[in-house]
Parts: sequence; C-alpha cells; structure tokens
Amino acid sequence: MSEVNVKKGLDGVVVDETSISKVMPDINSLVYRGYPVQDLAENCNFEEVAYVLWNGELPNKSQLAEFSKKERSLRGISKNLTQVIQSFNKECHPMDSIRTAVSYLGTEDSNHWDNDGDEKMNRAINLLAKIPTMIAADFRTKKGQDIIAPDPHLSFSENFFKMCFGEVPAKEVVKAFDVSLILYAEHSFNASTFTTRVITSTMSDMYSAVVGGIGALKGPLHGGANEQVMHMMKEIDDPDKAESWMLQALKDKRKVMGFGHRVYKNGDSRVPTMKKYAQKMADVTGQQKWMLMYDRLEKVMVEQKNIHPNLDFPAGPAYYMMGFEIDFFTPVFVMARITGWAAHIIEQANNNRLIRPLSAYTGHGERKVKALADR
Ligand code: COA
Repeated sequence: MSEVNVKKGLDGVVVDETSISKVMPDINSLVYRGYPVQDLAENCNFEEVAYVLWNGELPNKSQLAEFSKKERSLRGISKNLTQVIQSFNKECHPMDSIRTAVSYLGTEDSNHWDNDGDEKMNRAINLLAKIPTMIAADFRTKKGQDIIAPDPHLSFSENFFKMCFGEVPAKEVVKAFDVSLILYAEHSFNASTFTTRVITSTMSDMYSAVVGGIGALKGPLHGGANEQVMHMMKEIDDPDKAESWMLQALKDKRKVMGFGHRVYKNGDSRVPTMKKYAQKMADVTGQQKWMLMYDRLEKVMVEQKNIHPNLDFPAGPAYYMMGFEIDFFTPVFVMARITGWAAHIIEQANNNRLIRPLSAYTGHGERKVKALADR
C-alpha cells in the first residue's frame, strides 16, 4: 500500500463548511453568526442566543416574545417520561439519564421522520424546552425529592433553578448561569457536534443525533471535564496545596482536566468571561478558595507547560458555587449545547453528503480460512 498521511483524531482536517460559528484561535476569538461570544454573553440572554444560532439573526422584540412563548409552552413532559426518569437507578450518572430520556422522547414523536424545515425547527425548540425539565426531574428524583413542574412565567435559566431547588436565586446567580449557557452553546465541529452531523448524514432523525451527541459529550476529554475539574479542586481542597499538587501531577504525566484544547493553543476565548462570572459566584457565596486555587493551578500550568485553561475550568467551580451536584455539570452543558447541535443537524440535513472517511489498514495480510477441524 502506498504511504498514507493519516490524520489521527482528524487533527487539522476541514471536513465541511458552516455558517454557524467560527473559532479563531490566532486572535482568541469565537463568533456565533458573526457576533463575538463575549458580546452575546454580556448583552443577551440565552433565549436570544438560541434564536440567533437557529435563525442567523438576533431577534427583535416581537420575534423574541414569540420564540420565548413557544419555548415556555413546551416545557412540560409526559407522565410516561416522568415515570421513566423516576425508574432510573439512583446511582446512574445523570448523563445516562438525559441520554435515555431524550431517546424516550423520540419514541413519543410519531412524526420523527418528517424532516421539512418547520418540523426540524419545532423539534429543536421542543428539545430545548424539555431537556431542562428532564434534567431537573432526575436531579430531584436522585435526591429523593418531589419533582417540581416547569413555570412558564420564568425565563429559561430562572425556571431551571426553580425546578431544581424550588426557588429562583439572586439575579447575579441567574446571570452567571445564563452566561455559562451562552458560552457553552456552540463551538463549531467539536466532537459531540461532529457526532450529531455524522448521524444526521445517514438521514437518521434528530433524536438519534442528539443521543449520540450526549454520548460524546459525556467523555472527560470533552464535556465531562467540567465535572473532573471540580473533583480535582475538591481533592486539592486547600489553595496553599495547589502548586505542589500541580507540580506532582505534571511529574506523573497526568492529564489535568480543564486545561488544553485541540484548537486554542494560547488560551480559550470564552475563559475570561466565564472566569469573571465564576468570581462573582465566589463573591456572592463567600467561597473564595476555589478562585484562589484557580489562579495558582493556572499559574503553574502556564509556567511549566504553557497550557491554558479551557471553559470547563471556570465553569466547574461556578456551577459548584451555584449549588449543583458535580455530576449534573455535564447535563447542564447538554441544556446549552442542544442549541449548537440542532443548528448543525439542520445545516447538515439541508446540504447533506454521507460522512464516511477512510482508514489505513494495519492488520494481517490476506490469508485462507482453515476448516475448524484444522485450526
Ligand atoms: N494536562 C496535561 N498535559 C496536557 C493537557 C492537560 N490537560 N492537555 C494537553 N497536554 C499535553 C499532552 O500531554 C501532550 O504533551 P506531549 O506532547 O508531551 O505528549 C500535548 O499537551 C498535546 O496534547 P494532546 O492530548 O495531544 O492534544 P489534543 O489536541 O489531542 O487534546 C484535549 C486536546 C482537550 C483533549 C487535551 O488538552 C486534554 O485532554 N485536556 C484535558 C481535558 C479537558 O479539559 N477537556 C475539555 C476540552 S474543552
């Protein structure tokens, strides 16, 4: 076989075009539909960002009101789905719960093969509206608490807090959460988004693609990193131990979660905004130790390896300070990334070609099958 240039991990490979978002690592920038993500985070709510990702333009007041009304009206889930969630093993990871719940939701949509433009958009907004309800139902069931129904009078983020904790927290907390959803919403051809595009390229349905996306996001090299960051910080516990912990981890050649990125090599464009809001959570809750630890871990990693934090590094402690259980951090990421996934699923379906790469075979040369008696 002639020499083949294998692009392991598809590193550096451009596989398609997209008009949804652009990551510009050289200038540390990320734009959704042309808007810098930092501007969106400071000036918009998550609903406006979902709208711009799906429609290409920011909504005006009446468009936003209509979109929001629809999202609020779709938040409820069926009794059967609620019972499915309540039947999950209490020990199962909430990413397994949401993966299974989305799959079940697909079985309730008898129309799921219908893929005309309106149907795809309706399905996307239905998933956006119901995923938080399913996550919150699992959150409370795992704690042995009664499920709280969604409240259509509350914003997307306020409603999620109410469904999880029974009340809406201070507006600084809601804003920090909303910012995290905006920053997590979309990131071009990352592993989970690419998974949704591969599944869509076979002309499968949106639920199957989203279930695949959730599976990919669960891994600690992708979305699961936000949980691992907090486990690490809790293991270190004391900011004064952060430096020696990091030096030892690097000596042991450990992969330190929340650092490094396939695309950004000089820092993640989303980190300064998320760090600012994580700091606000430390100010609101008085839990400064996580941010002290943050700075010390970052300093050693940058000095020793020139590897910078990614979005999961500030998001982990921010969610912890908001009161979420650690294993719900990645499901929260799902709540946000459903917007990016759906945008990519629709874009892929509208201009589809089956995604089917090649491989370089390194196995045995061709040989004859011996009869069972001769082996
Ligand atoms: N901790 C320690 N070393 C790291 C590192 C980390 N988090 N991330 C990268 N490196 C080192 C690797 O050990 C490797 O060093 P080497 O060349 O001496 O072997 C080098 O940097 C390149 O890393 P590699 O894993 O090949 O880069 P990648 O582009 O394939 O991986 C990630 C990118 C995100 C998978 C990787 O940085 C990682 O595993 N990070 C931790 C998980 C995480 O936070 N994921 C969320 C991403 S948003």
